Amino acid sequence: MDTSNLPIRQYAADILAAVEKNDVVVVIGETGSGKTTQLSQILLEAGYGDHGMIGVTQPRRVGAVTVARRVAEERKVELGGEVGYAVRFENRTCSSTKIKYLTDGTLLQECLEDTHLSKYQVVVLDEAHERSLNTDILFGVIKKLLASQDGARCGSAAAAAASWQQQQKQQQVGSSSRSSSKLAAAAAAAAAAAGPQQKRLGVGPIMAVAMPAQHRLKLLVTSATLDGEKFSAYFNDCPVFNVPGRCFPVDVIHSQDDHMQDYAAAAVDTALQIHMQQPPGDILIFLTGQAEIDKAVQRLNSEVCKLPADSAGELLVLPLYAALPPELQLRVFRPAQPGVRRCIVATNVAETSITVEGVVYVIDSGVMKLKSYNAASGMDSLEVTAISRVQAAQRAGRAGRTRPGKCFRLYTRRYFERQMPDTTPPEICRTSLAGAVLGLKALGLPGLDVLSFDFLDPPEQASLCEALRQLYVLDALDVDGGITPTGRAMAALPLEPALARALLEAHKLGCLEEVITVAAMLSAEHVFAAGQGPESRAAANALTNPAPPGSSAAAQAEAGRKLKQLAEECQGDHLLLLRLYQMWAAAGFTRDFVQAHGLELRGMNFARDIRKQLAAVANFGSSHLQQQRPVSASSSQGQQQQQQEGGSKRRRWDEDKGPPLPSPTAGSSLGGSLLRSEGSAGSRGLGLDGRPLSRNGRAVSSPETLEKVRRALTVGFANRIARRMRLHNGYRTCNQKGALAQVHPGSSQLSSDDDGLLPEWLIYHEFVATSRPFLRQVCPTRYEWVEPLLPKLQEVDVQRLSGGKLRAQAAAAAAAAAAADAAAVAEAGQAADGE
Ligand code: CDP
Ligand code: MG
Repeated sequence: MDTSNLPIRQYAADILAAVEKNDVVVVIGETGSGKTTQLSQILLEAGYGDHGMIGVTQPRRVGAVTVARRVAEERKVELGGEVGYAVRFENRTCSSTKIKYLTDGTLLQECLEDTHLSKYQVVVLDEAHERSLNTDILFGVIKKLLASQDGARCGSAAAAAASWQQQQKQQQVGSSSRSSSKLAAAAAAAAAAAGPQQKRLGVGPIMAVAMPAQHRLKLLVTSATLDGEKFSAYFNDCPVFNVPGRCFPVDVIHSQDDHMQDYAAAAVDTALQIHMQQPPGDILIFLTGQAEIDKAVQRLNSEVCKLPADSAGELLVLPLYAALPPELQLRVFRPAQPGVRRCIVATNVAETSITVEGVVYVIDSGVMKLKSYNAASGMDSLEVTAISRVQAAQRAGRAGRTRPGKCFRLYTRRYFERQMPDTTPPEICRTSLAGAVLGLKALGLPGLDVLSFDFLDPPEQASLCEALRQLYVLDALDVDGGITPTGRAMAALPLEPALARALLEAHKLGCLEEVITVAAMLSAEHVFAAGQGPESRAAANALTNPAPPGSSAAAQAEAGRKLKQLAEECQGDHLLLLRLYQMWAAAGFTRDFVQAHGLELRGMNFARDIRKQLAAVANFGSSHLQQQRPVSASSSQGQQQQQQEGGSKRRRWDEDKGPPLPSPTAGSSLGGSLLRSEGSAGSRGLGLDGRPLSRNGRAVSSPETLEKVRRALTVGFANRIARRMRLHNGYRTCNQKGALAQVHPGSSQLSSDDDGLLPEWLIYHEFVATSRPFLRQVCPTRYEWVEPLLPKLQEVDVQRLSGGKLRAQAAAAAAAAAAADAAAVAEAGQAADGE
């Protein structure tokens, strides 16, 4: 592997010189120029990494894992040694690791334990152009951290000046007051020298510790798009490096017709045409998601077989998306055999994060899956959305990496020029911020005022206010905006705040195991097969949930009947999900069960995986400690999944043995408290109701436990409670919006009373605003459980929650500290003068 000719290598010396002189450096470079794989090595080769690790963040788990593997290969070292990675629930690093690839979420979690990121000498916020929510939060957090670093220098300068005066005082007994005044001036100058920098960065209080040069944290921000100036302006005009890429011309061909409606089919047809008519060169198709990609791969494979024998050569079709096990992802980095054309069908991971070499033809559907926030429900959803012109250019550029290429756009030039948005708003502006705000609060940044936090692109104040209000309702914040112990425990759980809160309540009530199962089932997308379950009538699912191959209509109908019967026995969707999982576990996690009940194996396996991980966090240690858990190669997620899919024998082995257990370590989180309450129950632990907590959730719950489950969910979903109207089955949500909605017809059937009225109180998972507003995934609840929550749902002073009062307190404390410092300097000066 010769990496010496990658563009970034040619700028290594300049970049290093800039890093030496500046705390923050921005590097802009075309995708594939070597930012992700080479920068860390350039830094290591220059001696960074000796006083702390070089941490490189990736917005996606897959990015961190594949890149770490690649860099280990390049350096000819074993993965997990000098080069390692850490992603949620998996850590392959050791005490000698110097280059660590990690997701931005993992680095934020690490900040919770180590606010100064003292384990790192350099942090590279990679793929910054993606503007993921966590990367955006890290911008603000690290900017504050760097500023405090200057504070430390400033504080130590003042202190050093004062102590120097003291020394001088001892050495120069009897010296004239004039020379002593010089000393005082020198002290003032030393403090002032650090001052302007401090002011520029908007630093608050002076920190207590001195910061030797080699312990100063360095930050590199890298991006594949031309947004360097914006980053530089945010980081106080830090230097920007533009690494020129190697890009060949790309011929862009727009479609005459708009294919946006049936882009997946159009993409397959276009690929087949290219394969038959165009000279050699790999094809890269951009689609939106896993199910859609799998379907397109299937179609391509079957269509290619139908082509006349001598009309085209061999076509190797490869999927590429984030959820693909890393082993399978690596296939796209292997060049094809001579005479074989590759066709890679990818999500937008192939746009900027993963560079596929050999691509000459790009097919751009013009769409992607994008998380968007439904302000009315306070929920995120993944929607197929138009890409921006910046992305369209990125996609086209993928065709010109090795030689001149062609990009086929499945949309018209008119659409591109007149309708396609310029850019995509960053995730922070289109997502629920409750989790992010909780994370910020948990970091305990001194004087944090969420509403005026220094975001690169501030989200709407309304979204921030809504997040603060939700966290208050969930007891995560007190009325002054301070984080509560409950809030801290929630922040340590890898779940959205509502589910995290439900889990904590479940722990208190003694139904943790059940609520973990519900949380896992809700977190796993698509547990129901097409045409089945509460989601079946949602049009959005038609594309992403293809009918299981080979399933006959009769079998489907039978599965539907079974599901319906089960749903009638359960109270609402949440308990149905729990019941289904428990039955599947009791049946030995078989594929047969999944098929007979209209479920989808992939979704169920995913739920099972999440469940296992959550059980480990909740039972055996805090989520942070889980991240530190070393995972051996043989138990890595991808392999586990393969084993699970590989047959029931293998699965049983997996169940009997289970994953390696982390050593229980006390923590301030839920894990810590559970460990205490479980005390003598052994490493497996007992639930509060005395039943052993199993990682598989095989137990069938008693009616009393199911009551507790609903109660715990009510506390977690306090922001999503709805009350039925008096005389009909319409509901009004109890949040400030007070919106009217009906139970989604696809939700589990709820029992009604003699008048045909549905339960008076419900919690809902999702508020969908289609033609008519609906509540989806509902669970009946009781007034006695809701009543204590209602006062918090009323008006609350959001400014106060934001931390305004705390900020005032912190400012007062800082002013007092600064005054004390100034007094110390003056006193030292006077003492020297007095001699
Ligand atoms: O980050 P950036 O897009 O600037 O480039 P990179 O990801 O560091 O990739 C540099 C080169 O390494 C490209 O030619 C990639 O195709 C190659 N690479 C690879 O072969 N296997 C990987 N797992 C990662 C990168
Ligand atoms: Mg990169």
